[in-house]
Amino acid sequence: MSKAGISEEARPWSEVVNVSTTYCYMSLKIASRAFRIATRHYSTRSNPLRVLGIETSCDDTSAAVVTSDRRILSEVRHGQRDMHEPMGGIVPTLASLGHSRNLPNVICQALDEAGLSVHELDGVAVTRGPGLPPCLPVGLNAGKTLAAVCKKPLIGVHHMEAHALTARLTESNAPAFPFMTLLISGGHTILLTANSLGDYEILVDTMDNAVGEAIDKTARLLSLPWEGSSPGPALERAAAQGDPIRFLQRLPTPLLNDKKSMFAFSFSGLKTAVARLVEKENVSTTQDINDVAAAFQARCIGHIEQKLKLALDREIKCNKKPLSSLIVSGGVASNRYFRDRLQSVTAAYGLPLVCPPPKLCTDNGAMIAWAGIERLQAGLVDDYTITALPKWSLESLKDAL
Ligand code: KG4
Ligand code: ZN
Repeated sequence: MSKAGISEEARPWSEVVNVSTTYCYMSLKIASRAFRIATRHYSTRSNPLRVLGIETSCDDTSAAVVTSDRRILSEVRHGQRDMHEPMGGIVPTLASLGHSRNLPNVICQALDEAGLSVHELDGVAVTRGPGLPPCLPVGLNAGKTLAAVCKKPLIGVHHMEAHALTARLTESNAPAFPFMTLLISGGHTILLTANSLGDYEILVDTMDNAVGEAIDKTARLLSLPWEGSSPGPALERAAAQGDPIRFLQRLPTPLLNDKKSMFAFSFSGLKTAVARLVEKENVSTTQDINDVAAAFQARCIGHIEQKLKLALDREIKCNKKPLSSLIVSGGVASNRYFRDRLQSVTAAYGLPLVCPPPKLCTDNGAMIAWAGIERLQAGLVDDYTITALPKWSLESLKDAL
């Protein structure tokens, strides 16, 4: 065996494979560039574009048809609460099975409600990543096949870019670039500046858990039932009836006075502190549960507020960025208490706070379709060979511009 782990006899074949792989890669690059040039006319077309969006990155099976003049023609979702709630959380292989079962009907229903056949679409957008490894390929393969059969442009969408761009679909006064975005979901807690489409600069990221993960764990510890497709709404409701002061001192503020991690979020310590509190105290009455939920929620948003102020100071005061607004999106952004607290912070900076409607803060096909439209108009389409990217850095999108 050679150093590279290829036997000498196999070398000629490996060279053939290498040469043909390089050739294929080059052909794909050329084809994809030609495709991009061919799709540039979409930005100047007079009829609005109609794009199908498909989302299967986690546990919601969703599809929607959206137009470039910002109309949502249809928005269909199939949740999986009945599968995951009894398991105490999302089981990726079960979620994948649910997508395989439900996606065909969800897509058909989205097209029916939009009154369109697949041939009348101008493109197919689908979540390429990040997300659960067994779930992403279900949507991606469906999207690729539909696009290829109908010879339509395919747009592989970054799930977090879609959350960040949702407000440009839903707000009558669409926020202009550059804007700051706070993405708070079950998988991410990120504060970033969106300079332009595909150009994102992460200012604060989590060093451990996402805030939604901590919310889900706390809701489970407090035996709160799921509402809709997640435990978050029940925690919000309990917290609204609780006294945050009673247990506040038992839950530490994350990363307080930690100079090394100034530009970082952390939620795992808070999650553990709630577990310890529930174990030590007899948290049994509804009032006890509500009070723990209220203290936990207050600490979460207090931590987010503190980092948001640092990021706003850096971007507005130091870097003189002409930010148009702060957009808050992701499932946790549907929490009214979080929105009100964030509103007070942005008001102090004279910055409008923009939140998509709660329904479109959680995972949905409309946000994928809209991100697809923005990319299609910019000539940023993909070829039919793209694969799922369960881990995919948002900042790396800049390399493909
Ligand atoms: O964006 P999303 O639908 O899925 C991911 O990409 O993760 O976010 C789901 C997260 C879950 O952790 C869920 O419990 C949380 O959002 N969530 C909420 C609320 N609604 C959903 N958290 C707090 N308050 C809510 N009202
Ligand atoms: Zn999401």
